[in-house]
Amino acid sequence: MRVIAQGISKDYFRQRRDSNVFTALFPTDMTVSEGEIAAVMGRSGSGKSTLLNILAGLLSPTAGKVTYDDADIFAMSDDERSVFRNKHIGVIPQVHTGLHSLNVRQNIMLPYDMYGEKCPDERIDELLEKLGLMTLADVYPDELSGGEMRRLSIARALVRRPDVILADEPTGDLDGDNTRIAMELLAQAAGNGACVLFVTHDDEAAAYAHKVYRMSQGRIE
Ligand SMILES: Nc1ncnc2c1ncn2[C@@H]1O[C@H](COP(=O)(O)OP(=O)(O)OP(=O)(O)O)[C@@H](O)[C@H]1O
Ligand SMILES: [Mg+2]
Repeated sequence: MRVIAQGISKDYFRQRRDSNVFTALFPTDMTVSEGEIAAVMGRSGSGKSTLLNILAGLLSPTAGKVTYDDADIFAMSDDERSVFRNKHIGVIPQVHTGLHSLNVRQNIMLPYDMYGEKCPDERIDELLEKLGLMTLADVYPDELSGGEMRRLSIARALVRRPDVILADEPTGDLDGDNTRIAMELLAQAAGNGACVLFVTHDDEAAAYAHKVYRMSQGRIE
């Protein structure tokens, strides 16, 4: 599956003295192809998460369109887009989003459970094992450290072997060993044909990318 963004931009409205429109993303074109790993780097506030959230269909662009092969994700209804995302896209969000009422194992199974499907036990066990979460499988998110929570998000995004992986600072709170484990998992997914785009501030993580985009003040340089 190929992700193509054409002329996507984002204006936010906020109260300011001069103007109340703030352009977080100027019109941007981008393509991520099968098997490709792309990294987006840049200072805080440069628009990286805005770009990633638009690619993921989580945030509507002010202008432009995003297609996954022939599917225009913003031409879909919200429900259609949610189903599409669940089926094709693994998102690792910048902020932690574990459901508090579910334990680690149940959180990882969520992309299957949400639609009444059964998650293969071997797949969860494989991810719990690789990400060092096996002993925490029955623990609830409130009891996890930041890095453990991050690893939970990675497992949940990968569990369905999505065609496209969009990861916002996937190694943000991980130590060196876990950074390598997480990046190896993303590289392995790309090796199996997934498109991977991730945001990072970490040179070690960026070294896994085939292509590095640098963002500054809402533009890719
Ligand atoms: N909902 C919003 N309303 C108004 N402004 C916003 C909103 N969300 C983001 N912004 C602004 O848009 C700019 C880009 O934000 P974005 O989250 O994309 O940055 P980022 O590059 O991901 O930064 P970081 O590295 O800190 O995560 C920032 O200046 C931010 O303050
Ligand atoms: Mg961000």
